[in-house]
Amino acid sequence: MSIKVYVPLDSGAVALGANEVAAAIVQKADKAGADIQVVRNGSFGMYWLEPMVEVETPRGRVAYGPVSTDDIDALFEADFLAGGAHKLFLGRTQDIPFLKSQSRLTFQRCGIIDPLSLDDYRAQDGLTGLENALKMSGADIVKAVTDSGLRGRGGAGFPTGIKWNTVREADGDQKYIVCNADEGDSGTFADRMIMEGEPFVLIEGMIIAGLATGATKGYVYTRSEYPDAIRIMNEAIEVARSAGVLGNNVLGSGKVFDMEVRMGAGAYVCGEETSLLNSMEGKRGVVRAKPPLPALQGFLGRPTVVNNVISLCSVPVILEKGPEYYRDFGMGRSRGTIPIQIAGNVKHGGLYEVGFGMTLGEIVEQIGGGTASGRPVKAVQVGGPLGAYFPRELFDTPFDYEEFAKRDGLIGHAGVVVFDDTVDMMKQARFAMEFCAIESCGKCTPCRIGSIRGTEVVDKLERGEDPELQVDLLRDLCETMKFGSLCALGGFTPYPVLSALNHFPDDFKPRALDIAAE
Ligand SMILES: Cc1cc2nc3c(=O)[nH]c(=O)nc-3n(C[C@H](O)[C@H](O)[C@H](O)COP(=O)(O)O)c2cc1C
Ligand code: SF4
Repeated sequence: MSIKVYVPLDSGAVALGANEVAAAIVQKADKAGADIQVVRNGSFGMYWLEPMVEVETPRGRVAYGPVSTDDIDALFEADFLAGGAHKLFLGRTQDIPFLKSQSRLTFQRCGIIDPLSLDDYRAQDGLTGLENALKMSGADIVKAVTDSGLRGRGGAGFPTGIKWNTVREADGDQKYIVCNADEGDSGTFADRMIMEGEPFVLIEGMIIAGLATGATKGYVYTRSEYPDAIRIMNEAIEVARSAGVLGNNVLGSGKVFDMEVRMGAGAYVCGEETSLLNSMEGKRGVVRAKPPLPALQGFLGRPTVVNNVISLCSVPVILEKGPEYYRDFGMGRSRGTIPIQIAGNVKHGGLYEVGFGMTLGEIVEQIGGGTASGRPVKAVQVGGPLGAYFPRELFDTPFDYEEFAKRDGLIGHAGVVVFDDTVDMMKQARFAMEFCAIESCGKCTPCRIGSIRGTEVVDKLERGEDPELQVDLLRDLCETMKFGSLCALGGFTPYPVLSALNHFPDDFKPRALDIAAE
């Protein structure tokens, strides 16, 4: 029997050479007369170990990483096909501490299975949630999701069950499920990783959302920068359709649900749900005023669920194991697990799924292992480009929607970007304003004009032009943007700006004065 060797097809691993490593292993095995089967799996999300190669042995799957093509000869010499000792040997995959200490509910099969094998997916209890949902009424499915405490993982943390109920109760001959896979936040990659590594869980989650609300058509809206995710999702949809999971007779139930992938042209604001819907309709990606809510008048004016990838991918396990099982993880009003994406200047960058409640310090220092540069951590930006910068003094903040809000921060899509002590927080504040100016859809003045004025004020501050006045102006501008903007792009840009100003005042000293003082 051939020996199974796993080399990830995940685009993060591919960027680090996984395709070349897979080809080199096949070539060397051919030469050596070894009977192997290379499986291209998803990533487990331990990116500092990618490309991570695994071999199936009688002891279970053992891992080696990070592997480069230069290591292949030595790995064969070390008899890695039998799990032999080598300097890159990591032991059994499931025992690697970063993985072992997680509570993987949403990502439970990512990395383990061949992403495009429905048999693999089923063998690991895939589709059980859907089978259960098919026996339930729409109202009962909505109740299960509501009882689980699941809140939207796209940014706002809105309760998923309540959103679904609005769509379920809305009048409409046609309703839609739109999956928001635009994933524009800095340091985030959970949506991409799961679409590449376990696409069937998203398909399953979207069908369940359709059953719950009466929607028969779904769309995955994603970005052009995700070509691998797009290809894998499209192939998985084809496989699901051929197997009767999607289509006019979902798993033989007589229920209808089908879906397709739509690619955006690339704008951060197209991740905002109404701008996304405009983009899907072929219009400019401009934010729509609410009301009407997309749940009542969304895609083509019809009732529409817009949910993030991770929200939808968390649904199958809720329907499989029950809402109580899911809600048992977490703290306060933040229930279940959250796939935290650890990025930036960090030693162990990757995806870490865990129940809400771990402190920011634990995430950065224990899980992330501190900075990659070895220098002290100075700041951590949580929640993407609109998220606040947290100083070390706030490292005791638990990862929880309300706890972060109490400290003027947000969890967003759970991206954690680490900076060492060389970061200049005045530059980061300017960057936040500049980002907003570049990405603004232009619909409202506080965002469109305010962000440009914001960069000018920071420039004046840097030059030492009347610094106290500039700080007052910056605060005033932030106030106007926060309360006067139509959407969170303009409304939340003050978070990174003010957190930088409040927590790192020394960085806002005029540079010109520093030079004069020297
Ligand atoms: C500027 C901006 C960008 C956004 N980008 C994304 C995104 O890339 N992905 C996402 O899921 N939600 C994004 N959101 C949030 C969406 O508007 C919406 O709240 C979300 O898709 C709802 O799904 P959820 O309830 O499952 O979180 C963004 C919001 C704003 C204001
Ligand atoms: S806040 Fe900015 S992105 Fe949002 S609607 Fe106004 S101009 Fe557009």
